[in-house]
Amino acid sequence: MVNLLGALLGSLLFTQTVLADAVTDKGRRLYLSNCISCHNKDPNTKGAIGPEIVDAPIEVMTSKILTGVYPDPLPPGFVPKRKTKLMRKIPQLKNDIPAIFAWVQSMKKPKK
Ligand code: HEC
Repeated sequence: MVNLLGALLGSLLFTQTVLADAVTDKGRRLYLSNCISCHNKDPNTKGAIGPEIVDAPIEVMTSKILTGVYPDPLPPGFVPKRKTKLMRKIPQLKNDIPAIFAWVQSMKKPKK
């Protein structure tokens, strides 16, 4: 019985990990196809046009993707990396923001 429970729990955890990996992998693919014309392939580093994005909370990423601009008011403690208004909205990604955010955060490196 204990073994059966163990096996069940194991496969549940396995399924969860596989699902989480599928989401972040989708996020990675969407980031590479929609964002790196401006941002860096490595979201910790600034790109050709856009800044590094690992420090932006999900409200900021959501606002940038849906409207092109930073949220107003800004989330407490968040300082925009740029004062420019160069990013254009990509509202068709609405439902994919959690996946993109999950992948970006999975790439985040500690500050040196
Ligand atoms: C046309 C170029 C361009 C594209 C494409 C683009 N961005 Fe941006 N992004 C920028 C620029 C430039 C900024 C800095 C503020 C501004 O000028 O809008 C920015 C800012 C951001 C920020 C805020 C970073 C911070 O900490 O201040 C986030 C988050 C972000 N972009 C996410 C994304 C994501 C995710 C994608 C793809 C879905 C994307 N951007 C596509 C140009 C772009």
